[in-house]
Amino acid sequence: MDLLASPVRLEPWAASDFELLRAMNAPDLMEHLGGPEPEEALAGRHRRYVDLSADTTGAGRMFRVVLLPEEVAVGSVGFWKKTWHGEQVYETGWTVLPGFQGRGVATAATRAVAERARAASVRAGGAYRFLHAFPSTDNGPSNAVCRKAGFELLGEEAFEYPPGRPMRCNDWRLELLPGRKG
Ligand SMILES: CC(C)(COP(=O)(O)OP(=O)(O)OC[C@H]1O[C@@H](n2cnc3c(N)ncnc32)[C@H](O)[C@@H]1OP(=O)(O)O)[C@@H](O)C(=O)NCCC(=O)NCCS
Repeated sequence: MDLLASPVRLEPWAASDFELLRAMNAPDLMEHLGGPEPEEALAGRHRRYVDLSADTTGAGRMFRVVLLPEEVAVGSVGFWKKTWHGEQVYETGWTVLPGFQGRGVATAATRAVAERARAASVRAGGAYRFLHAFPSTDNGPSNAVCRKAGFELLGEEAFEYPPGRPMRCNDWRLELLPGRKG
C-alpha cells in the first residue's frame, strides 16, 4: 500500500528530547542498529545530537520528527558528514516510534531532511553533492523508505556497526545538487 506521506515538521533536537531518544532505544527499533544502547552510551548520543543541532559549519543537523496535525514527537531524522570512498558526503538515518509506523512518517521526514541537507550543502558552497543512507540489507521498511524518497540503490557494502559487529548494508544515494558536474 503506497499511502501519501503523513505531514511532519522537523524541529531541532533539544536537551528536552532525551525521553524520546530513550523510547527509540527499544529492542524492536534497534534490531538493525546494533541493539539497545546502555544508558551511558545513550546519554553520549543525546549530547552529540544536541551539539549537532547547534552546528553552523555544515557538519549536519539532528531533528525530532513532529507529526501533524497531532503535534506529537514520533521519532528522529538527521544528516551528518561522512567520508565515503574518498568523497565528502552527507549520511542520513531515521527512527519512527512503533505506534506511528506504516503511515508514511519516515518517508515524509526523509524528504524533508533531504531539503535541509540540500540547503546546508548550498550554504557550504556545494561541498556535499550526495546524501547517502545505509540501511541493513534485511531492514525491509528502511529500504522501502529510501526507494519511496527517491534514492538510487548503488549496491551492497560490508559495514561494521557498531564497530566490531559486521553487517551488510545497502548503499542508497540521493543527488543534492542536480545540474552540477562531477
Ligand atoms: C524504518 C522506519 C523508520 C520506517 O518508518 P515508517 O514511518 O513506518 O516508514 P513509512 O511508513 O514511511 O514507510 C515504510 C514502508 O515500508 C514498507 N514495509 C514495511 N515492512 C516491510 C518489510 N518487511 N519489507 C519491505 N517493506 C516493508 C511499508 O509497506 C511502507 O511502504 P509503503 O508505504 O509503500 O507501503 C521504522 O520501521 C523504524 O523506526 N525502524 C527502526 C529504526 C531503523 O531501523 N532505522 C533505520 C536506520 S537507516
